[in-house]
Amino acid sequence: DWTMEAFVDKEIARIRGLVGDKGQVIGAVSGGVDSTVAAKLMQEAIGDRFHAVLVDNGVLRKDEAKTVEKTLTAGLGINLTVLDKSQLFLGLLKDVTDPEKKRKIIGNTFIECFQEEAEKIAKEAENTPRAGKIEWFLQGTLYPDVIESISFKGPSATIKTHHNVGGLPEKMRLKLIEPLRELFKDEVRELGTSLGIPEDLVWRHPFPGPGIAIRIIGEVTPEKVRIVQEADQIFIEEIRKAGLYQQISQAFAALFEGKAVGVVGDQRLHGHVVGLRAVQTTDFMTADAFEFEWKVLRQVRNRIGNEVDGVARVFYEISSKPPATIELE
Ligand code: XMP
Repeated sequence: DWTMEAFVDKEIARIRGLVGDKGQVIGAVSGGVDSTVAAKLMQEAIGDRFHAVLVDNGVLRKDEAKTVEKTLTAGLGINLTVLDKSQLFLGLLKDVTDPEKKRKIIGNTFIECFQEEAEKIAKEAENTPRAGKIEWFLQGTLYPDVIESISFKGPSATIKTHHNVGGLPEKMRLKLIEPLRELFKDEVRELGTSLGIPEDLVWRHPFPGPGIAIRIIGEVTPEKVRIVQEADQIFIEEIRKAGLYQQISQAFAALFEGKAVGVVGDQRLHGHVVGLRAVQTTDFMTADAFEFEWKVLRQVRNRIGNEVDGVARVFYEISSKPPATIELE
């Protein structure tokens, strides 16, 4: 019968068998549960012959690249390269307001950056006498993703594509390795815990591939990104303090288009409009807005006012899904 220990042993043996004594594997990590657990399993199986790459697209959570680097490198011993491509992405996103265009730009640029790095790592690997070629590409696909991609051709088929670095394995002729493809989310969490991944990360809310760009309605600018990052960090901190983090499936700050008038000190401020979103859901296909106690929202609003420059108003978004979606764009 099935136990987590048996699964880990079997999977590590399977990975070693597939990859061989010299083979190398490359994979993208995002700081999320699935890619971290998959990466840690690879590290346990083949050590530094697994190469993890994090692309900082400039629309990640506040300090995310640094945090992920610390956790994965120092904490988990994963061989990680961080690419700071924030200027490139933010440059390409300038003046773009259409949600689908934002998604395409981010998805395509991600693939280009990842591919360039993969080719670089592959070249270096060939010059290392003890190790062989990179022939494998790691993907943190879960069982529900497998089912969905077989049976469901709705909007979420497109959602998943850039997440999964579509096109890369074919172009580089890499073979796919998917160690989580038999697991459900709760099993991935259990596996993560048993591999020594910190609890905070194991229970982390999901974060979309296009990041904060689809939480800023309209044009993405560095100032708007900063406001969303800072407001988001405060919102999540207060949710944790109130002991609500695990009851809520996903929470984040966003930014509405346009400006509103407020008063800061004795000055009129023509400032930005922050939106807060928190939902409860089991499958992310339908969701309800979380019913906060007033004092939690009031505390978040006070802190955003005191700590984030340039914000005039803060709204709490109460729509369920449907008719709304979880993200704003
Ligand atoms: P929506 O907004 O469609 O979100 O209700 C459902 C879940 O999917 C995530 N999401 C995305 N994830 N790329 C991703 O990797 C995307 O383009 C994308 N759009 C939405 C969203 O965060 C939520 O968990």
